[in-house]
Amino acid sequence: MELYKPNTDRYHGMKYTRCGQSGIHLPALSLGLWHNFGDSDDFGNAKKMLLGAFDRGINHFDLANNYGPSAGSAETTLGKVLAGELKGYRDELLISTKAGYDMWPGPFGSWGSRKHIIASMDQSLRRMKLDYVDIFYHHRPDPDTPLEESMGALATLVQQGKALYVGLSNYNAEDSQRAFALLEDLGVPCLIHQARYSMFDRNVEKALLPTLDKSGVGCIAFSPLAQGLLTDKYIDGIPLNSRMAKATFLTENMRSDLVVGALGQLQELARSRGQKINQMAIAWLLNQSAITSVLVGASSIRQLTENLQALDHLQFSEMERSKIEQILAGVFLEKRQPK
Ligand SMILES: NC(=O)c1ccc[n+]([C@@H]2O[C@H](COP(=O)([O-])OP(=O)(O)OC[C@H]3O[C@@H](n4cnc5c(N)ncnc54)[C@H](OP(=O)(O)O)[C@@H]3O)[C@@H](O)[C@H]2O)c1
Repeated sequence: MELYKPNTDRYHGMKYTRCGQSGIHLPALSLGLWHNFGDSDDFGNAKKMLLGAFDRGINHFDLANNYGPSAGSAETTLGKVLAGELKGYRDELLISTKAGYDMWPGPFGSWGSRKHIIASMDQSLRRMKLDYVDIFYHHRPDPDTPLEESMGALATLVQQGKALYVGLSNYNAEDSQRAFALLEDLGVPCLIHQARYSMFDRNVEKALLPTLDKSGVGCIAFSPLAQGLLTDKYIDGIPLNSRMAKATFLTENMRSDLVVGALGQLQELARSRGQKINQMAIAWLLNQSAITSVLVGASSIRQLTENLQALDHLQFSEMERSKIEQILAGVFLEKRQPK
């Protein structure tokens, strides 16, 4: 193994924001391992992104039991790097994982039972070769399990020392509020909510974000580039090897005339700010008061580095803000539900 020496300046270019009312501070950009870190992906490329992120102050990596493919293999990939180049840096890293989507056959392989949540956590720890994770999320609400049971399982994981904090993902405002109260009663306050939020996907603005603000719970925005749609790459077509070309989670019908038209206008506005669409989209999210961190994905270190440059220009003038509202009116993508 080549000796890896992290950048000694790694914390200087990054901004860290307090997560809700907790003592945890998250980097403005965090890295998600949903795509491009599985066992069918290039391990060298995955490692380069993880180390490149760490070198640039991105000390939060987000996973889930099912990330891959194959399911679970993104955790294995991270585990290899944690046991290799990143050995000795565990206390600088904030690692999250989740349970709730389909993972193994049978009735305990998914959703929100105590059985699923606790067994899934044990599997995740084994794959990552860790004693504990920093944040453990319930990945989605389960209509067939009492909320008391799912939240009780999260609290147990904290009491067992397997998770330091807990979070919720894909819960609506009302269920979140009930879950926060249950967790509070169990002595394990909810640290963070992970919600899909981007310029093209603003469903959370009406009820969820005000609820989080009021409850002192942080928010990390996933799919901030609408899975890559909020870049200039789809303006003229669908590039080979892009997520849309793979067509599993980002499908061609999302590249509607309306969306392409909006992208053209966003590109013009971004250029006038000295940015690309993706950089402006990240900066825009970081300006929303409820947002603690923006959880990006990447398929190369080049993309990650480019996205980080969003931090070079975060401010928006009133004119830019109203131009963005004007461009986005009518193009929100409301029906997508990725995992
Ligand atoms: N809680 C949940 O239910 C849930 C759901 C989804 C995601 N997440 C989390 O959020 C993370 C991020 O989600 P996401 O991957 O959908 O985020 P995203 O940042 O919206 O999309 C990432 C994708 O956009 C493209 N891209 C990124 N930067 C680019 C650039 N500079 N230029 C051109 N293309 C660029 C890449 O796709 P190409 O392959 O096309 O290059 C990349 O894989 C996930 O890894 C996961 O941790 C959570």
